[in-house]
Amino acid sequence: MRVFMALLMVFWALVSLEGVISHGVQPLSRIAIHKTVFAIDNDAYIKASPSVLGNKMTVTWTSGYGISKAEPFVEWGPKGEEQKRSPAATLTFNRNSMCGSPARTVGWRDPGFIHTGFLKELWPNSVYTYKLGHKLFDGTYIWTQTYQFKASPYPGQNSLQRVVIFGDMGKDEYDGSNEYNNFQRGSLNTSKQLINDLKNIDIVFHIGDICYANGYVSQWDQFTSQIEPIASSVPYMIASGNHERDWPDTGSFYGNMDSGGECGVLAETMFFVPAENRAKFWYSTDYGMFRFCIADTEHDWREGSEQYIFIEHCLASVDRQKQPWLIFLAHRVLGYSSTAYYTNLGSFSEPMGRDDLQKLWQKYKVDIAMYGHVHSYERTCPVYQNICTSKERKFYKRSLNGTIHVVAGGGGASLSEFSTIQPNWSIYRDFDYGFVKLTAFDHSNLLFEYKKSRDGKVYDSFRISRDYRDILACTVDSCPSMNMASSPYRGRF
Ligand SMILES: *[C@@H]1O[C@H](CO)[C@@H](O)[C@H](O)[C@H]1NC(C)=O
Ligand SMILES: *[C@@H]1O[C@H](CO)[C@@H](O)[C@H](O)[C@H]1NC(C)=O
Ligand SMILES: *[C@@H]1O[C@H](CO)[C@@H](O)[C@H](O)[C@H]1NC(C)=O
Repeated sequence: MRVFMALLMVFWALVSLEGVISHGVQPLSRIAIHKTVFAIDNDAYIKASPSVLGNKMTVTWTSGYGISKAEPFVEWGPKGEEQKRSPAATLTFNRNSMCGSPARTVGWRDPGFIHTGFLKELWPNSVYTYKLGHKLFDGTYIWTQTYQFKASPYPGQNSLQRVVIFGDMGKDEYDGSNEYNNFQRGSLNTSKQLINDLKNIDIVFHIGDICYANGYVSQWDQFTSQIEPIASSVPYMIASGNHERDWPDTGSFYGNMDSGGECGVLAETMFFVPAENRAKFWYSTDYGMFRFCIADTEHDWREGSEQYIFIEHCLASVDRQKQPWLIFLAHRVLGYSSTAYYTNLGSFSEPMGRDDLQKLWQKYKVDIAMYGHVHSYERTCPVYQNICTSKERKFYKRSLNGTIHVVAGGGGASLSEFSTIQPNWSIYRDFDYGFVKLTAFDHSNLLFEYKKSRDGKVYDSFRISRDYRDILACTVDSCPSMNMASSPYRGRF
């Protein structure tokens, strides 16, 4: 099996080399668009005049054309109107950018060139068309087909907004031909459900353990082809997981070898996220009435760390009247999980996971915190310091008084066993492949659904209904300055 795989790798390496050195004869199919990422920038603002600025979409694709061969660009514009061209940036990396084997040895394959175009000053909610082009230096053009996407709502916009979230999907083959690393058998069902339902999805978050290439670089292309129908029409946002980042002595919080020597280089180059520094994969992004704070569990998140400061800033800086739905996302389970592994550790989460963060979730009233890493589905009650803050299971009215924690790591990789112990904060568990969908109807009503990948049907759900005054209301530890019982000024007035 290994020998067969090694031959395949060599074959791919030759194909790639041919693509890189040949002049102008590259077939169109070699330009594989692998994702579009949308993010409203932090500089998004609404001017007094009726134009909305700061609204961007990013398109990334790969090709065999370096900057000495052709100029890459995106031709785009409002659907049916004049299309303009924006130049794209070109990045690549080489074998020495990899931190170890197999990425540096048998897993290496020349990645070609990774191009990113920035489409700026989009009109909210408008439909845009785009295609990718390369202008060769002999004057000829290479084009892709035309794709389209809808620009995001403006921050705070009151309209139907639908978000899909899952982790740990990976890739797979219908014919079972991939003999190596073929443990992501749920992956095709998940991507098929999303593709079939694309018209009802506005944005996707894949929260870590993206493709499980684990140092076999060509597997990223396999993954990006699988998700192309999704990622070319709705924003495909990622978080960083152990299989993207971890490698000894490279600054990852964990010193294991889960990235197969990639040490984050592939994820950081192939996927644009609006992080200040993509090597530190934490960022915030807004979508209409949602604020998402995305943590990077492969870097330190504890109090005193750079990331903790970011997380607090992300949670604290949202205007909940305009963006009431505050969602925390991370790869490893920083909140609560009763999977066998975490239960045996006794922590019911990543060790040190919630020690420092729970006070932030409570203080800033995070509605839902969601994780991958554990390959199954689990939902908690609204919880704070291990105690359920509500007995309700289906319909939360007014304040949650805590945060609902959800594990949605059943995107595709082999399932993780639950513990026989089910703590009382754990109110729904499913040992199967699936994903989560959030639907915000308006500023007061949110629907949460868990769907199985095998049939796309809803197996668990709940609703939140409240208004802005309920978010302002104090709960345990959420307004320390207002809490007279613990105030240092108690008795002085
Ligand atoms: C939150 O706490 C308040 C005060 O204890 C309580 O009235 C309310 O029902 C709680 N919310 C939920 C959803 O249980
Ligand atoms: C849930 O379990 C915790 C910890 O064992 C306990 O303190 C709490 O009283 C329990 N709550 C309920 C409602 O059983
Ligand atoms: C994928 O879905 C089909 C039904 O549509 C089901 O029979 C199959 O078991 C699913 N595969 C996995 C790995 O869950």
